Amino acid sequence: MEQVLVTGGGGFLGKALVRKLLARKYAVTSFSRHHHPSLARMGVSQIQGDLTDADAVKKAVTGMETVFHVAAKPGVWGPFDTYYAVNVTGTRHVVEACRAQGVKRLIYTSSPSVVFDESDMENVDESVPYPDTYLAPYPETKAAAEKRVRKAAEQGLDVIILRPHLIWGPEDNHLVPGILKRAGRLKIVGRTDDRVDTIYVDNAALAHVLAAQKLRENPSLSGNIYFISQDDPVSKWEMANAFLAAAGLPPIKGRVSARTAYAAGGCFETIYRLLGITTEPPMTRFVAKELATSHWFDITRAKKDLGYFPEISTREGLRRLTVWLSRNG
Ligand SMILES: NC(=O)c1ccc[n+]([C@@H]2O[C@H](COP(=O)([O-])OP(=O)(O)OC[C@H]3O[C@@H](n4cnc5c(N)ncnc54)[C@H](OP(=O)(O)O)[C@@H]3O)[C@@H](O)[C@H]2O)c1
Repeated sequence: MEQVLVTGGGGFLGKALVRKLLARKYAVTSFSRHHHPSLARMGVSQIQGDLTDADAVKKAVTGMETVFHVAAKPGVWGPFDTYYAVNVTGTRHVVEACRAQGVKRLIYTSSPSVVFDESDMENVDESVPYPDTYLAPYPETKAAAEKRVRKAAEQGLDVIILRPHLIWGPEDNHLVPGILKRAGRLKIVGRTDDRVDTIYVDNAALAHVLAAQKLRENPSLSGNIYFISQDDPVSKWEMANAFLAAAGLPPIKGRVSARTAYAAGGCFETIYRLLGITTEPPMTRFVAKELATSHWFDITRAKKDLGYFPEISTREGLRRLTVWLSRNG
């Protein structure tokens, strides 16, 4: 049995990945700060530790053949340093530990936001460059982490970097609840013909497993980056309405211009910063730009190199989400 470590195995994507790995008979250990009873019920070994603790990370990767570095600090608000510590320093610890302990492969979960340049991105592939500036600590620190992982590939560690966009599905703790909790207050930002990629959580997990398998068979893939998605860009407002419908909630009404949303984001950021408010503002400049632009990607490379395909269709994913929401409230 191949020993694998999943950082953040108790998180949204992490848990879906753990399930896929167990189904394929991998011996799975999860590393994260908390104990996750759901992982214990699956029989997964858990190591409690923080990515910011180099020694803890080193101990966790010892004896592992493959490490899936999924854990990160997500979100759109908060002090830069807290994002940097987990996403950049934490990733450096994982890379260094893998190299020191002879781990064979590292699969790193990145994000398409690392290349978001505040304009429409339509059918772009992995050759798109990093922007010079970022509007939020999350994409900036994920970009720095991604660069560190790329450097590890140059240093001889076999790595693949995956960029899933807008992951959703049952047990989602970010996107879907973020929309549902704002039901009745949400407004369409900007135009309605812009499209985005999304990815059903089990498809994102599948891409991770395929990446590890293909990298094992073909180490020349090391250093490659792959966008992964449903391969079916959708209207973000239709998708948001589909999530609302899955919870039996009415669709979004009303509209604001992209310029108004961006200005409101700037105002909220200033006020929240001045008052030291730590909760997420109702709007930020980064979110306003994301909401008002298209971002969908050419995933030819993932299909060709990894054999990736979105096993679960968007329609089937929405059906599963509806069932899960009806059972879990
Ligand atoms: N969700 C999306 O739409 C999306 C889109 C693109 C990319 N991604 C990327 O996908 C990955 C997984 O995202 P997710 O949505 O599954 O996030 P998540 O549900 O928040 O899971 C992240 C996990 O990381 C662990 N973690 C956080 N800080 C840690 C630390 N300092 N030390 C050790 N473990 C830590 C947490 O477990 P503990 O609380 O137990 O520490 C948490 O369960 C991330 O790398 C994210 O950047 C997500």
